[in-house]
Amino acid sequence: MYGSLTGMELGFTLLSVICAWIAANKASNAVYGAAKAKLSRNIRGTTVWAAIAAIPALAAILSIAGIAATQPPLFWKDRLLIQAPLIGFPLLVVWGYSLPNLWRLKRNSLRSPGAPDRTIRSALAAPGVIAPFQAAALGAATALYFVLVVPSPFRPLQGALPLFLCVLAVTALWMLHDGRWQRALGGSTEFERRLWRRTLAKLGVICVAAGLAGIAVNAGMQNSRLPEHLNMASGPMDFGGGTALSHDVAQAVSVAMLTGPRKEQPDRRISLTAEKKTVRLSSGKTVDAWTFNGEVPGPEMRFRQGELVEVTLTNRDIDEGVTIHWHGLDVPNAEDGVAGATQDAVMPGQSHVYRFRAEQAGTFWYHSHQHSQEAVSKGLFGALIVEPADSAKSSRQQKDFTVISHLWDDSGFAIGANDGVWRETVAPGTQVRLRLINTDDWVRQTYRLSGTPFRVAAIDGTELTEPGELRDAELRLTTGGRYDVTFEMPDRPVYLSVGRDGKLGLLISPDGKGDVPALEKASSVFDPTHYGKRTEAPFGPDSEFDRHFTMVLDNKLGFYDGSWNFVYTMNGKVFPNTPMFMVREGDLVKVTIVNRGSVDHPMHLHGHHALVLSRNGETADGSLWWSDTLDVQPGESYEIAFRADNPGLWMDHCHNLTHAAVGMTMHLMYEGVSTPYAVGSETANRPE
Ligand code: C2O
Ligand code: CU
Repeated sequence: MYGSLTGMELGFTLLSVICAWIAANKASNAVYGAAKAKLSRNIRGTTVWAAIAAIPALAAILSIAGIAATQPPLFWKDRLLIQAPLIGFPLLVVWGYSLPNLWRLKRNSLRSPGAPDRTIRSALAAPGVIAPFQAAALGAATALYFVLVVPSPFRPLQGALPLFLCVLAVTALWMLHDGRWQRALGGSTEFERRLWRRTLAKLGVICVAAGLAGIAVNAGMQNSRLPEHLNMASGPMDFGGGTALSHDVAQAVSVAMLTGPRKEQPDRRISLTAEKKTVRLSSGKTVDAWTFNGEVPGPEMRFRQGELVEVTLTNRDIDEGVTIHWHGLDVPNAEDGVAGATQDAVMPGQSHVYRFRAEQAGTFWYHSHQHSQEAVSKGLFGALIVEPADSAKSSRQQKDFTVISHLWDDSGFAIGANDGVWRETVAPGTQVRLRLINTDDWVRQTYRLSGTPFRVAAIDGTELTEPGELRDAELRLTTGGRYDVTFEMPDRPVYLSVGRDGKLGLLISPDGKGDVPALEKASSVFDPTHYGKRTEAPFGPDSEFDRHFTMVLDNKLGFYDGSWNFVYTMNGKVFPNTPMFMVREGDLVKVTIVNRGSVDHPMHLHGHHALVLSRNGETADGSLWWSDTLDVQPGESYEIAFRADNPGLWMDHCHNLTHAAVGMTMHLMYEGVSTPYAVGSETANRPE
């Protein structure tokens, strides 16, 4: 709803600009013509275009009214107080004052044949009559600028400057018209001539304006370039309304010291080599991939809770560099694998050792966090499963399948390396767990399980309490998110469809045979807000929070690192200008995330799991919903909370990696932590 209203607002505002501009031209040219009949026709044409311009203007204002009727003020205050008046007010003057004046003139003085006299000319050129048309065009253009360019929340200059320029332009036009009006009063004959000089002058103005805009865009692009060295521990700070925290780098603990156990004997030793390789999917299609150990996805890592893990990463030939980030696993900061924040990118020929204890049981994944967007889309990722410490070593009564799906450039979707129907044999009565992992970029994957009722047993690696039974509900999983689905194997086939066309999926049957069932329309979409049984929470909406941050997400035309593009803003800015959230170890932190934009943003905070308190003001009262990758849809707002219990420098970004790559990334910064690493054009580190 909100998404389409913002789309309408944009579309109709754009149309308003075009139509109001044509009407303004008609109005200011109305005075030209040798005969009264011509002037009379001019007035008719002006009226027609003023009527046409009113339609998109009204529609734009109605879309704003629609947003105001359905959303909290944060979504529409500026729209209602700035954009709507900019579009609507000048048109009111046009219809309430200018047009009645023109019609009166048409009726009273233009009926008779003959040449118009100076009274008629001056009435048609009066600035009070003509300027409102031009104000309508300029007002709509300014409103469009607000829709497209000015991010929310406003900074004073960003909001005031376009308004000021709009007023300035209207005043300038008024003065031009005033001069023309004086000449008309004086009986000038210029109005009988053709308009080519005026047209030329207008073209000149347009060229100059376009040139100025070009210069401004160019300067913006240059200005937005990342510096040569940028230390992520420095920069603007947001204290979330809590006590100010000082940032004394001299006394700070380096993130490089915040490691996992470095000396003890590890329980598991794993080597991963990053290398380019052409791999084959089950259908025979090939992918030019960036792989771990020559496979796509990389090898599945399966640990037991509590195990000390040592992973040695070697980069064979990925020129862009590699790291490994353990998505969803809250490891010590130095092991988090973010190039430029917690380590340097591992370049060809180099190695890096990660060591951490797998403390949480659940479904996670790992991926490179260097040139993330390209690296993940090309294959540098894999599943990471931690089995609970208390589970039986291998239970024949349990079957566990990892459904890690990915969209391969040119080759389509696949589950692992399987891009068709994957078949498995499972005896009836067996407990089955499907671990759904969405590794895509800006794909909200849909899943349907047919042939059995099921439960969503875990979200983002955390088990739910007493999840209820679901039947033909559709599951939608955001980029980076995970759902664990469980059911008892029936004596007939069960099909998990990944995507909506039924062609990709997992078919489990007692004998390995069976047909893919036809997919019926889902009766509902799974929603965790009220799902499962409530248990006692360590904190809730009424807790005393040490800090409360607000994160407003939006999309605008803007600059990022030397390019001009649609950018995705966090609190009106892109990296590195978005102030970092500053916390002290032990703080209880609340974050309100509001998506004012027109696309969804899966927000991912590293190193912490946040408890979802509410969505759109509605309390989440089902099983405790701990999330590390929270999909925030357009128009939605979430309140989440976490305990700051893992010191370091932690990325907080959108996991639509395309968005992160144009600056939709910021970080959570602990007091007294510094980093020896840097990003910037003189470093190899490009975390996104
Ligand atoms: Cu899965 Cu910062 O990433
Ligand atoms: Cu995003």
